[in-house]
Amino acid sequence: MQRIPARVGDAVDDIDTPALVVDLDPFERNLDLMANAARSAGVALRPHAKAHKCPDIADLQIEGGAVGICCQKVGEAEAFVAAGIRDVLVTNEIVGAAKLARLAALAKDATIGVLVDDADNVRHLGAAARDAGTTLDVLVEIDVGMKRCGIAPGAAAVALAETVVRTPGLRFRGLHAYHGSAQHLRAPAERRDAIATVVRLARETKAAIEAAGVPCPVVTGAGTGTWQLERDSGVFTELQPGSYAFMDVDYHRNALAPDEHDFEQSLYVLASVMSAPVRERAIVDAGLKAFAFDSGPPQVWHAPGLDYVKASDEHGVLTVAAGRDPPLPGDRVWLIPGHCDPTVNLYDWIVGVRGSRVECVWPVAARGALA
Ligand SMILES: Cc1ncc(COP(=O)(O)O)c(C=O)c1O
Repeated sequence: MQRIPARVGDAVDDIDTPALVVDLDPFERNLDLMANAARSAGVALRPHAKAHKCPDIADLQIEGGAVGICCQKVGEAEAFVAAGIRDVLVTNEIVGAAKLARLAALAKDATIGVLVDDADNVRHLGAAARDAGTTLDVLVEIDVGMKRCGIAPGAAAVALAETVVRTPGLRFRGLHAYHGSAQHLRAPAERRDAIATVVRLARETKAAIEAAGVPCPVVTGAGTGTWQLERDSGVFTELQPGSYAFMDVDYHRNALAPDEHDFEQSLYVLASVMSAPVRERAIVDAGLKAFAFDSGPPQVWHAPGLDYVKASDEHGVLTVAAGRDPPLPGDRVWLIPGHCDPTVNLYDWIVGVRGSRVECVWPVAARGALA
């Protein structure tokens, strides 16, 4: 467990670094924007908690009207249920007897949903639920273009839904139709085209399931890049965005159409300059172990002429443009993570700040929950 980097009431200048910091004003505006936009369209919001892994944030989302949360792992779901969250959809296929038993046991304390794309897995899930004396909600995941998990839309999905309906211990709830790579297509027209296909496949498959006599009340999916398209589709009943609460360098690369809502950056890694050996270079205390680099390096926030160009395990190298005052050892630098979710997973604490003060310190309770 990492040391708590700050206490409530501390000055922001006294936060120990590197620290994961949330600027609460833009963060709350992001939560409100999404909650209001879903509510006014009559679509349920089930934010993806893999972005924050933090029950305090899930509580805020649910207080704002979210019907529950999504998790990606059983261990994440366990952390949230232990913290009192009562409706969790695990947006993944879960395999292996031990994990299935853990998942089924969770349904004693909460409504637990899970995805399937395989008939044998359906049988195993049903057996686990019956052994635990619980009922699991089940959604059939269809591959709507991402080429990750998911059974083919259409007849195969109908047959799997019928298998779920026939399996004691399980309750068929609907379809999971998520297109992850579409979230990061840079042009609005590319995202529109990709989601038009998603919507068509989801609509056709839902109709086919219902034509087979199986009610299909839920169609869930969407992320921060495309949620307005799914929301307005007339097919999706539920949205699962996660990153919108924090944002990151990668999401800011998306160009937005005039009618698309933008979210504000609220998440930072606060770092300290620990060395400035020459005028054109400064070294901060946040390197490879302080950020996920899968979407590129972090960006320095509001400090023109400072660029984060290179990292080693515990060092981040900044270049200092000519004509700019060079930073000095001890100076603070606010860094926007390239990719928020895996960066959050590197920290045990989220420090919430408002203005110059620390207002809260939240545990990242599901950090490291890989299983
Ligand atoms: C199944 C699923 N739903 C929703 C999301 C949320 O996406 P984002 O954080 O881009 O909003 C993800 C993210 O990868 C996901 O895998």
